[in-house]
Amino acid sequence: MKKVIPALLVSFGVALTPLVATATTPLYQEAYRPQQHFSPLQQWMNDPNGMVYLDGEYHLFYQQNPYANIWGPMHWGHAVSKDLVHWEHLPTALFPDKHGTIFSGSAVFDHTNSSGLGTKENPPLVAIFTYHDHWAEKLGTKTFQTQGLAYSLDKGRSWTKYAGNPVLPSPGIPDFRDPKVVWHAESKQWLMTLAVKDKISFYGSSNLKKWRHLSDFGQDIGAHGGVWECPDLIKMKVEGSDKEKYVLLVSINPGAPNGGSGTQYFVGDFDGKTFKLDAEFENDLNAPVDQSLKTDVVDKGVWLDFGTDNYAGVTWSNVPESDGRHLFIGWMNNWNYANKVPTDVWRSAMTLPRELVLVKQGGDYRVQSRLVAEVGRLHESSRAIDAPVKAKSLDLNKLLGVNKIGQRIQLTLDLKADQRAQFNFGNGKQSVVFTIDNAKQELMLDRSRSGKVDFEPGFAKVQLAPLTEPLVRAELDIVVDQSSIEIFVNKGASVFTSQMFPDSPLDQLRISSDSELTLASAKSFTLGSIWK
Ligand code: FRU
Repeated sequence: MKKVIPALLVSFGVALTPLVATATTPLYQEAYRPQQHFSPLQQWMNDPNGMVYLDGEYHLFYQQNPYANIWGPMHWGHAVSKDLVHWEHLPTALFPDKHGTIFSGSAVFDHTNSSGLGTKENPPLVAIFTYHDHWAEKLGTKTFQTQGLAYSLDKGRSWTKYAGNPVLPSPGIPDFRDPKVVWHAESKQWLMTLAVKDKISFYGSSNLKKWRHLSDFGQDIGAHGGVWECPDLIKMKVEGSDKEKYVLLVSINPGAPNGGSGTQYFVGDFDGKTFKLDAEFENDLNAPVDQSLKTDVVDKGVWLDFGTDNYAGVTWSNVPESDGRHLFIGWMNNWNYANKVPTDVWRSAMTLPRELVLVKQGGDYRVQSRLVAEVGRLHESSRAIDAPVKAKSLDLNKLLGVNKIGQRIQLTLDLKADQRAQFNFGNGKQSVVFTIDNAKQELMLDRSRSGKVDFEPGFAKVQLAPLTEPLVRAELDIVVDQSSIEIFVNKGASVFTSQMFPDSPLDQLRISSDSELTLASAKSFTLGSIWK
């Protein structure tokens, strides 16, 4: 903290004394504190940054303002985990310097020491991030975002800024940020995917220090309701085959289907220079909205998550080939209200870690998000129904013989092609309602009566997602934490990640329908706290 330039903080109107938790409530037991999701010890957090695996540790850096619980002068906070679910907080990793504050970016393990920033014997971890020069911005220049490097020779515990920063100067476009770097083996180069206003630019390098522009993508395709941020180009195997495709994640704010921040994606190929969108995917994006569908959803992009609270997510680098998963985490918040959510000691949490899977769907491809298997490490006790149950209304607590339903619930339901089923998660006073509406071909999440909602008018708005076909068999995997609900429908084909702020945990579940439904299976798990 002492390394922060005091004048910079004054320019943000930030008090120079870090705000220290004064509450008498023990740490991690404060109202709304997530028990299964990563949140910072104290103060503000936004995007996940620099996610890299090295020697048995998953590193998670994040956009941090160590001085207040609102956005401000950005640093990189740091945590590590051995299993993706239990986290250890480490000291702040990157501090602002004369080039600016430290915006989002990525980290790679430079195992051949191509950058020369380490040695052959001790190759460096290299962080590639955006410098945001607030002074230059205030002076009205358009060159205030540039890309810089820092490196660590001790497994991320201490960092040195590269003396030749910035490595990529601004082309004079104000929004020029969030470098995601990967080693592209086929073209034998480091590949940087960068968000530039509302398109993506690709850059190549042999040493991480000198970059050359390769191509641009996306100017006229996909959702463009806001600025593009935090991209990630991922080479993925299609599930169940050896075919490989490239998936480009692009966060956008505003312009998400349910308001504010969200993440769209594109599927195509990359030849070392250019990203080429699949023709089928492009057709889908350009298809006029089918008026015969009774849905209320107008869908301009293809979205990773229909909940309002999964933003700026990207994948871990350097995950061992023997593992081979594409491990993802997102910021569980939305710029529409992130600075106003009713927490005090800390602000914001991450989503649960997910595995991204590419599946073939007709002639096209879609990305599904599934909870990583490691979430199973939090399972404490479980209850299940013995046999299928048929009814119009079901009290899950009664069926499972528990006072409180577990934090993770897995259900399989058989529904008719025009049936509507509602899942009411409540605490006796407040509730969140999830609806599968097969007649309308729509999913809905209503948090309008979930507790504190008045900090932002749009927070209570119902969230919608279209269904391409009725769900006659619905498999749901749901995690309900103190202040969030994540719903994965049919192996993550549709996802809702949503914050909520009830007075007490939502530990009652009732399912009801307009006609008899079949609950084929139901299982509930109590989950242990990740902080114990
Ligand atoms: C996304 C974002 C990034 C930027 C960072 C600043 O949420 O706006 O584009 O680097 O946050 O904190």
